[in-house]
Amino acid sequence: MEAPAAPHDPAENHPAENHPAENAPAENAPADNGPAVTELTVTSPDQMRELGRRLAKLLRAGDLVMLTGELGAGKTTLTRGLGEGLDVRGAVTSPTFVIARVHPALGDGPPLVHVDAYRLSGGLDEMEDLDLDVSLPDSVIVVEWGEGKVEELTDDRLHVVIHRAVGDTTDEVRHVTLTGIGARWSTADLSALTA
Ligand SMILES: Nc1ncnc2c1ncn2[C@@H]1O[C@H](COP(=O)(O)OP(=O)(O)O)[C@@H](O)[C@H]1O
Ligand SMILES: [Mg+2]
Repeated sequence: MEAPAAPHDPAENHPAENHPAENAPAENAPADNGPAVTELTVTSPDQMRELGRRLAKLLRAGDLVMLTGELGAGKTTLTRGLGEGLDVRGAVTSPTFVIARVHPALGDGPPLVHVDAYRLSGGLDEMEDLDLDVSLPDSVIVVEWGEGKVEELTDDRLHVVIHRAVGDTTDEVRHVTLTGIGARWSTADLSALTA
């Protein structure tokens, strides 16, 4: 339903006139309501790991999780919890000296592919060239340093940004922002993570 144009309005095409009418129906909103963003604060490595365990319960095969944060932010710590929650084989460690490590599932769940994209310059092509002994669509893929490199793997992704509280380097406080991008995440209930 279109709002009727204001009569005798000389500025008909002025952008300011494009704002939704008062009491506008939802259809005036963009079709994509924008990504769901969840913010939380974590105060210890254990809590970060616990966050990973909880997040694991929301993940399924084909999911891509991108982790962003400076060195020591807690990306690998979070992934360790993911590995525990997904019940996969092998301890999750920093993959700095390998580009990707596959953790096979111990149970019925998907395997975890843990990628350090720091040294991936070629992006997706290089990922495919890794010749991982696993099907990516059947796996949960967690990528550290993946921004600008692995987005093309899927339209849907969960972007996790970890910020260290500024100033005090001994501080264990981390601010975590989770942004679910794409249809996959439009209905996901990330609030379960803060419960
Ligand atoms: N709240 C926290 N969450 C995660 N790690 C923390 C936290 N507080 C302190 N740390 C410490 O910070 C370091 C994080 O390392 P790591 O997870 O390897 O980071 P990254 O993979 O982002 O480089 C670990 O030594 C961990 O014990
Ligand atoms: Mg790391």
